[in-house]
Amino acid sequence: MIKIAPSILSADFCNLERDIQRVSSADWLHVDVMDGMFVPNITIGVPVVQSIRKCTDMFLDVHLMIEKPWRYIDAFAKAGADLLSVHLESDLPPAIRDALRAMEANGVRKAVALRPITDPDAILPYLEELDMVLIMTVEPGFGGQSFMEGKLSKIRRARALIDKVNPNCLLQVDGGINPSTAKLAVEAGANVLVAGSAVYGAADIPAAISALRVG
Ligand code: DX5
Ligand code: ZN
Repeated sequence: MIKIAPSILSADFCNLERDIQRVSSADWLHVDVMDGMFVPNITIGVPVVQSIRKCTDMFLDVHLMIEKPWRYIDAFAKAGADLLSVHLESDLPPAIRDALRAMEANGVRKAVALRPITDPDAILPYLEELDMVLIMTVEPGFGGQSFMEGKLSKIRRARALIDKVNPNCLLQVDGGINPSTAKLAVEAGANVLVAGSAVYGAADIPAAISALRVG
């Protein structure tokens, strides 16, 4: 069963509650947190996640594109995140472990995220304890970019590692997902799909969400 996680990066921030309700037929809500350091853009912070938590019961999948994410795990967990993803490129391995420990202490689900350039085998030291791996199929920072088809082999490799080491671990793909790339990502082994522009750019949002349920 494929989970669809609309990214509110493509929502209208003046009407965030309305735009969250518009995607209620999806499974998760994907929240892109950017700090202007790890990526060139600045987006959503802790107070916004806190407000979102008050207006929806949807599962909050919070993608941290920030440097030294261990500093903010407690805060995002207390704000109401259900799952936190930290980028493996955002700090040294001991600090990534600290971030995972902090997630565990707060009872949130644990994920690591990989930029397009990062080798999928980099997940191995953490895989046994993860709830999800996030593979980026665009350079993190902005919505509306094109899916990098060259990353399909990386999704396949991550799927093989997950099946071997921790089959319950989810495999999320984020960036450039639309009905045709969704099919490619799912065939390669993804089971959680993030989509921003393909959902919020559609005239009929529930239909756009259904069109992504390719698996
Ligand atoms: C990009 C974000 C994505 C983004 C996806 O850095 O992590 O979640 O919102 O947007 P689309 O689906 O438009 O590529
Ligand atoms: Zn994202």
